[in-house]
Amino acid sequence: MHPAGTVQQKNPRQSRNRQTDFLFFPKRESGNRNFQPVLYILHRTVGKSKAPGRSGGHVLPGSAPGARRSDMEKIQIPNQAPSTPMPIVIAGALVKGKENYLTIGAYGVMSMQPPLVYISSMKAHFTNAGIKETGYFSINVPPAALIKETDYCGLVSGRTTDKSRIFTGFYGKEKHAPMIQECPVNAVCKVVKTVELPNNEVFIGEVVEYYVDTPCLTDNIPDPKKIDPLLLAGHSYRKLGGIAGTAFSAGKSLMKK
Ligand SMILES: Cc1cc2nc3c(=O)[nH]c(=O)nc-3n(C[C@H](O)[C@H](O)[C@H](O)COP(=O)(O)O)c2cc1C
Repeated sequence: MHPAGTVQQKNPRQSRNRQTDFLFFPKRESGNRNFQPVLYILHRTVGKSKAPGRSGGHVLPGSAPGARRSDMEKIQIPNQAPSTPMPIVIAGALVKGKENYLTIGAYGVMSMQPPLVYISSMKAHFTNAGIKETGYFSINVPPAALIKETDYCGLVSGRTTDKSRIFTGFYGKEKHAPMIQECPVNAVCKVVKTVELPNNEVFIGEVVEYYVDTPCLTDNIPDPKKIDPLLLAGHSYRKLGGIAGTAFSAGKSLMKK
């Protein structure tokens, strides 16, 4: 299935269920001119390590008929943040009085009450200076229709390119951070904490103002179907699929009676 050879472990305890594989992983997408294959040594578990049928007994989409998650062989791959689709937002800030926007995948909700969100932005980004200067940033949820503008804001830096006119900026009660009129969901966030990582600054912000386009509400709640947000999965932007189940309800059938 994979290129290159498979070598059995010398240690007999390990060799029972572990193999060492030499695999070539592309550093970037293979279409990229800078494509550099990298050799990784991977350990994979062979044979069954779990009691079959305990969990994940559902049929795998796209697999051979009858293939089940609980029967799958696992392979250890190089350490990185585990892959899940990331919601894409555009953060806005005033940098030396000028509106600037950057695309962020590393965004998330930290607390519902108080409403806290985070963005993790590389230290070198132009926007960071503005967030630190003003103590505020905005979060804007771009619809799939804004895919070009969203990608563009993640390709060029405000340090060298004026991104202030790519969108129509608007402000809430105070001129703290620009929000994007063309995005259906917007929030102003006040920085309450900054966490310094080796390459990034994580800005934790409390939502102090929240706006939603009225046509994107259903029963006064922001409706993801109407908002049509973008997700980042690997190197692809994706749109939401259908509803898979009801939260806080789908698992009830597994509760002990
Ligand atoms: C889809 C996408 C997601 C991105 N996510 C992040 C992110 O989570 N954190 C980050 O620091 N940069 C991220 N970037 C890169 C920045 O948006 C990009 O470097 C931007 O040009 C910085 O702008 P600035 O220098 O004007 O602040 C992303 C770019 C794209 C296209």
